[in-house]
Amino acid sequence: MTQKVTTAYFREAKKTGKRITMLTAYDYPMARMVDEAGIDAILVGDSLGNAVLGYESTIPVTMDDMVHHIKAVTRGVKRAMVIGDMPFLSYHVSREESLRNAGRILQEGGAAAVKLEGGREVAGTVRAMVAAGIPVMGHLGLTPQSIHQMGGYKVQGRDEAAAQKLLDDARALQEAGVFAIVLECVPVPLARLLTETLEVATIGIGAGPHCTGQVLVTHDLLGMFMGKSPKFAKRYANLHQEIIRALTTYREEVLGGAFPGPEHGFDMPEEMLEKLY
Ligand code: KIV
Repeated sequence: MTQKVTTAYFREAKKTGKRITMLTAYDYPMARMVDEAGIDAILVGDSLGNAVLGYESTIPVTMDDMVHHIKAVTRGVKRAMVIGDMPFLSYHVSREESLRNAGRILQEGGAAAVKLEGGREVAGTVRAMVAAGIPVMGHLGLTPQSIHQMGGYKVQGRDEAAAQKLLDDARALQEAGVFAIVLECVPVPLARLLTETLEVATIGIGAGPHCTGQVLVTHDLLGMFMGKSPKFAKRYANLHQEIIRALTTYREEVLGGAFPGPEHGFDMPEEMLEKLY
């Protein structure tokens, strides 16, 4: 049987310097492909909102949306660790509600951990989740759920005060018990310092090569977004163009009579037809 990736894998990787690979997935076929490619962890991110549900930000994504998609992903995975994102306001209203929502991600969704955004202000919530047996991944730097407060998708921690705040937040999360921290859109030298300072793994996205691991939004990597992708999102394929090409060819073949051909149909003896009236 395939051995599942767990939080122990993250701790071991941090100790030994082995790099961790992580990608997003939101449905069963993509989860199967990401898992088959040997990626260590699958994040069912609330980027679901932008990548799949057609929203302009992650803010409209609900707990029910997340649980629905996490279930589909966990059904497709054999080895990778599945981490479910906690959506906007699902871990802020009260400690009790936060715990119940995190519990749903594991109990209903089948994920092995949750991820949430924020630093010192969520440390108490993280501690309560960890005490309840829920592994938590932190997320610092550019935190898209606070986009209206941040005033846009910008690199974070650029001046001394902001960099110190990031470092303090990361320490608070580590103390609260997170097993790893995503660093999004953070200057490369600061991500390096954070990675060297922390005992837990850092997973970078737009944070340079020194993090313990890397994560990307799979739709960016595959070129499935119609708009502009962020600078840090390397494109390994252009599936948008490839899909449009296939769909257009199908349309043309149906209109021109080239599809379906004899090889796509099912035969029956002519004599049988002759008996029908
Ligand atoms: O929602 C998401 O996909 C994320 C990644 C960008 C880290 O949080």
